[in-house]
Amino acid sequence: MPITAVTGAASGIGAALSQQLREAGHQVIGIDRANSDINVDLSTPQGRQQAVNEVLERCNGVLDHLVLCAGVGITAPNCGLILAVNYFAVSSLLDGLAEALGKGSQPSAVVVGSVASVQPGGDQQPIIELMLGGDEAAALELANREVSPSLAYAGSKYAVSVLVRRKVHEWAKRGVRLNVVAPGVVETPLYQASTEDPRYGEATRNFVAPLGRGSQPQELAEVIRFLLSPQASFIHGTVLFADGGMDAMMRPSRF
Ligand SMILES: NC(=O)c1ccc[n+]([C@@H]2O[C@H](COP(=O)([O-])OP(=O)(O)OC[C@H]3O[C@@H](n4cnc5c(N)ncnc54)[C@H](O)[C@@H]3O)[C@@H](O)[C@H]2O)c1
Repeated sequence: MPITAVTGAASGIGAALSQQLREAGHQVIGIDRANSDINVDLSTPQGRQQAVNEVLERCNGVLDHLVLCAGVGITAPNCGLILAVNYFAVSSLLDGLAEALGKGSQPSAVVVGSVASVQPGGDQQPIIELMLGGDEAAALELANREVSPSLAYAGSKYAVSVLVRRKVHEWAKRGVRLNVVAPGVVETPLYQASTEDPRYGEATRNFVAPLGRGSQPQELAEVIRFLLSPQASFIHGTVLFADGGMDAMMRPSRF
């Protein structure tokens, strides 16, 4: 029975994925703030360390798959929190669980990014180098001081995608495939909150994919399960957009 750890397992994409994996015979170790197997706050270094320790304990140091879904959106109470959860928690859990994944069977990991990572200007911000350089205190301070929620979110998703792509050699040596799935609109509490936001709600509601609809969390779960599976055995270091055509609509000549 494959053992798969999933962050953000209590809601949205992570919950749909956990259900599908359990039905397919995986042992799922769910991680979330509450209502999960491991209840921790991934915005803090202590919470991340506790998550790593408890996963290692539950899987006896041998993990087959890891999916990092936990994230916060533009309605987060501050921009530092967006970076802490969407970037620094991902970085910590990838580092903390890489060795256990290296001992797994046909191991692979998926990070949930976002089509927001290609938002114009998102990749051109000083917070990007601070994130990629691992300077959490400076990144959070700068984000809280002068970055808008929209650019903090876009920047966190861009940086986490670059982080994954920079790991292709290191993780290939361990025999672990690592990829990003970049959703567009997914009908979850995170998206619902964005549509009701006084600053961004109208723009969020009006930003519709060429397919003319948002997706259901189960559709994203299917994509993640494919990336985890042996059917995706040659896919490594890629950013797979599952966005109803949004990326192609915004930048048709870049891929
Ligand atoms: N919904 C969308 O339209 C959309 C689009 C693109 C990307 N995403 C990404 O998909 C991922 C999943 O989001 P979702 O839409 O399923 O949202 P969601 O709000 O339904 O689920 C996110 C989960 O992350 C958990 N989480 C947040 N902060 C945490 C913390 N500090 N510690 C532990 N757990 C924490 C929440 O408790 C929640 O269960 C996120 O990374 C999000 O950025 C979502």
